[in-house]
Amino acid sequence: MRKPHIKPIDKEVEIPDKKFLVSKTDLRGIIKYANTAFIEVSGYTEEELVGSNHNIVRHPDMPRTVFKLLWDTIQSGKEFWGYVKNLAKDGSYYWVFAHVTPSYDTTGANIIGYHSDRRKPRKDAVEKISQIYAEVKKAEERGGLEAGVKKFNEILEMEGKDYAEFVFSI
Ligand SMILES: Cc1cc2nc3c(=O)[nH]c(=O)nc-3n(C[C@H](O)[C@H](O)[C@H](O)COP(=O)(O)O)c2cc1C
Repeated sequence: MRKPHIKPIDKEVEIPDKKFLVSKTDLRGIIKYANTAFIEVSGYTEEELVGSNHNIVRHPDMPRTVFKLLWDTIQSGKEFWGYVKNLAKDGSYYWVFAHVTPSYDTTGANIIGYHSDRRKPRKDAVEKISQIYAEVKKAEERGGLEAGVKKFNEILEMEGKDYAEFVFSI
């Protein structure tokens, strides 16, 4: 499915406790699998999700810088942990704490796709991270991705942590 144009609304959908939203993608981020919790929370049908780019749930408030970090991390074979604000089909939003990992072929030498599971984040962590993302987004609006990355790194430097350490400290 092509990315639909959805107008965000100021309504939060809470992920049920203990539910994991699971998806698998190919190397380009095209969804190959979505579990029931992901289908229910996103508001799309399985048919709409499978075959679509994962950016189908991208929320416009999210800085591009975070997705650059996500892709740089997983394409280099490492796991990514991070907070993401997502857009549901009806325009509402849902915050997740996401874990994204590369999947390897049987030789273990080649990445063949990616796997992610997401759970409900703590409210206080979302409050902290959304302030940081808003600052990074503002920097991107003024100076593009480069300015966003610079801002993000400055904030993390002040915290004395990289993003992976930071997400577990809040
Ligand atoms: C396994 C996997 C899971 C992803 N999960 C999300 C997600 O939950 N929300 C999101 O906005 N992007 C997610 N992405 C990143 C998207 O592929 C995409 O880079 C991002 O939405 C930004 O969209 P854009 O590249 O069109 O700017 C995921 C990527 C992969 C490989």
